[in-house]
Amino acid sequence: MFEFAGRIAFITGGASGIGLALGKALAGEGARVVLADINGDALAEAERAVSGKVATVQLDVRDRSQWLHARKFTEARFGPVSILVNNAGIINDGGAQVAQRGLIDQSPDSWDRMIGINLTGVYNGIATFGARMRDRGDGHIVNTASTQGVITCAGVGSYCASKFGVVAMSEALRYELEPHGVGVSVLCPGVIQTGLVTNSNRIVGLPAQDMPEGYGMDPARVAEMVMEGIRANRQYIFTHGEYAGPVDQRHRAIEQALAQTPVSPLYDPDQPLAGTQEFAAAMIAAGR
Ligand SMILES: NC(=O)c1ccc[n+]([C@@H]2O[C@H](COP(=O)([O-])OP(=O)(O)OC[C@H]3O[C@@H](n4cnc5c(N)ncnc54)[C@H](O)[C@@H]3O)[C@@H](O)[C@H]2O)c1
Repeated sequence: MFEFAGRIAFITGGASGIGLALGKALAGEGARVVLADINGDALAEAERAVSGKVATVQLDVRDRSQWLHARKFTEARFGPVSILVNNAGIINDGGAQVAQRGLIDQSPDSWDRMIGINLTGVYNGIATFGARMRDRGDGHIVNTASTQGVITCAGVGSYCASKFGVVAMSEALRYELEPHGVGVSVLCPGVIQTGLVTNSNRIVGLPAQDMPEGYGMDPARVAEMVMEGIRANRQYIFTHGEYAGPVDQRHRAIEQALAQTPVSPLYDPDQPLAGTQEFAAAMIAAGR
């Protein structure tokens, strides 16, 4: 059983919403928590809101020199990180109608920002702390994706691209870290009552756009689900079971397309199939 007491947790996007709720839950279980966020004012408030051992560090997850500073700060203050939560994220720029928010109308700057924060930001966290966790052979990484990391719809193409990427990275990372005793989970929330739209708008200078009260799940409930997911080393942490239908629909479309595709003449059923974990494991065993 994974114990939280005495561990050091580093949470990006920790100044609000899901990250802050998780910070409170971890501190409540006796972990020492570093909340990292781009929003310095919100961090100061967050530090006051968490009871327990907590510190904050301002970090733009796109900036690798800031990551280095954040790691040194955390290790000097508390010690080595064994719970890493790559959670910072933004949603597509608010203000525009859904019909005008698609990929075709998205500016290159907006695309770069989305991928830089939501996808490369997660990679940067893994690159900063991952090898140290592997070498110590202990810990857990949670990467926040979304239900939009497993299904898509119009108007959120870049968000989906970033979140599908987070799911893919998390699946690969889980294979890589499992032999070293480090767990990896990917969090795929449905709609959660947070300031995601307002906070995303702030980053691009758009007006606040609050979510209607009672529209989404309480982030404290999400935090409970994440704690349980870490304890049980779950690969996927979903928050809304109603997405089983749309996910099934997508998977069935893929399966049907594959069922209509002939098996290639080069396929050898006695050999591991290239691209599968079985293939990777065989290559690793052979030292290749
Ligand atoms: N709220 C939802 O309905 C929902 C649903 C699915 C997934 N998510 C994901 O959950 C995660 C947390 O979002 P939330 O809903 O708690 O919203 P939130 O806005 O309350 O939290 C996100 C935090 O990330 C921070 N952030 C943004 N850009 C950053 C950067 N470049 N560097 C560091 N910090 C940065 C923001 O300042 C904010 O504090 C995000 O990755 C989001 O995509 C949220």
